[in-house]
This record gives sequence, C-alpha cells and structure tokens, in this order.
Amino acid sequence: MVELTLPKNSRVTKGKVWPVPLRAGELREYHVYRWNPDDGNNPRLDTYHVDLDDCGPMVLDGLIWIKNKVDPTLTFRRSCREGVCGSCAMNIDGTNTLACTKDMKDINGDVKIYPLPHMPVVKDLVPDLTQFYAQQASIEPWLQTDSVTPEKEWKQSHDDRVKLDGLYECIMCACCSTSCPSYWWNSDRYLGPAALLQSYRWIIDSRDEATGDRLDNLEDPFRLYRCHTIMNCAKACPKGLNPAQAIAEIKKLMVERRT
Ligand code: SF4
Ligand code: SF4
Ligand code: FES
Repeated sequence: MVELTLPKNSRVTKGKVWPVPLRAGELREYHVYRWNPDDGNNPRLDTYHVDLDDCGPMVLDGLIWIKNKVDPTLTFRRSCREGVCGSCAMNIDGTNTLACTKDMKDINGDVKIYPLPHMPVVKDLVPDLTQFYAQQASIEPWLQTDSVTPEKEWKQSHDDRVKLDGLYECIMCACCSTSCPSYWWNSDRYLGPAALLQSYRWIIDSRDEATGDRLDNLEDPFRLYRCHTIMNCAKACPKGLNPAQAIAEIKKLMVERRT
C-alpha cells in the first residue's frame, strides 16, 4: 500500500476548549481552525461557545463575538458584512461560502469553520490569495480599445449590456476556485473559474477591442482547458454566478474562431 507523508503542519490536532461565558443565554458551539506560523505548532481546532443572545445571526457575527468577547487572537478577514466585498470567504460546514451571509440557523449542529481549502494559510482563517489575484490580473480585467477615445463615453446597446449580467457581479471571493478539483491540483498553471469568468466578462463586452488577444492568452492546455466541467464552482458561488458556463462559452468561441 502506498504511504503518503503529510507535509509539515498539515495534521490538524485537537485544540483548546474555551470556557463557556458567564451568564450566557442560548449557546452555539463553534469549532474553528487555528494556525499561527510563528509558534511552530501544528494547526488545531479550537472550541468556542457563542452566546446567541448577545450576538447577531450570521456565522461572521459569531466570529466577531468570539474575537471581541473571548479570544482577540482569532484572525479572519471581513469588511462589508453584507456579501459585497468578498473578504470573509471561508469553508463553513463543509462548503466554501461567505461568513457574513451564512445564517447560523442553516447549519445543523456545531459550526465548523476552516480556511478556504487548498490555499496556503497566512494565519487561522486567512488564506494567502497572492496567486489568485495575480491570475485575475493576468486576464487584464479592464476595457481595451484601439479606436479613438470618444468625447463623452463608450456607448453600449441595452442588449449588449445585458450580456454582462451574471458576470460583472463577481466579488472575487475565491469560493469557486478553491472548490474546483482542477484548480486544487494545477493552481500554478490553470487559471481557475474566477479568473476565467472575469476573462469572459471582457471577451464578450461589445466595447472591448482586444477579444483576439484575450482568446490568444487563454489558448493553452492548462490556462483554460483544465476545466473538466465538474461544476463545483457554480454550486459554491455565493452570488449565484456560473463560472462553468462562462468557461464553456470561451471554449465555444475558441472553436468558432478556428473554423
Ligand atoms: S466546472 Fe470547471 S472550473 Fe468549475 S469546478 Fe469544475 S473543473 Fe473547476
Ligand atoms: S464567481 Fe462567485 S465564487 Fe467565484 S470569485 Fe466570483 S463571486 Fe466568488
Ligand atoms: S464581509 Fe464582505 S462579503 Fe462578507
């Protein structure tokens, strides 16, 4: 039988059980992944008891309550608290999603929280998204034109504008890419669903004049063609977008321009 050697710090150990708060109302158990790069220890799963009578209804409210009332060292990202900044993406109850829009009521039993999977961890629930952002930048997500710049604005018909619906709403949370098995195994070469959805958003923008260059940039066995239509990305997207469909449309355009 093949024996796998786990990389250093990959085994998650049983962590600390933090005390139940005094004068607590209804409690909810949170099991939260903790890892500190500075102490040399393996990651651990800490247990906290969140006082629901003293805290808002969302998973992020619970994390903020823990940080404010129990353990200020717990580290996670958040900003808008209403599903528009993408900062609070994490793996909750086995699914990648936004902590601020995930209602605790929709989780059966204890709340289990890990960082987004298959990404290097900076600390606790904070993944290192350096490569993810570099991939977004590599598709050059801005309007590119050769024509003379109009005096007022680049115009677009209503019908052409509608084509961007379901694409422009991406908040770059990385829930999709980090749920994609192809991205897990080839994230150094495969762009992943988030960057490809964004790429398609510019490819089909009627005002953009770099369509050929954009497609050339994706004509590669890894950058685009590692998508095997497993659809995890569409299931994971907290904004209800469908990166798999966008990827299929890009592949179709690739075929069309060859014929
Ligand atoms: S459809 Fe493609 S991008 Fe989406 S999860 Fe599957 S392999 Fe990844
Ligand atoms: S497509 Fe959805 S899941 Fe993927 S980065 Fe954008 S908003 Fe997040
Ligand atoms: S805090 Fe902005 S999306 Fe959750």
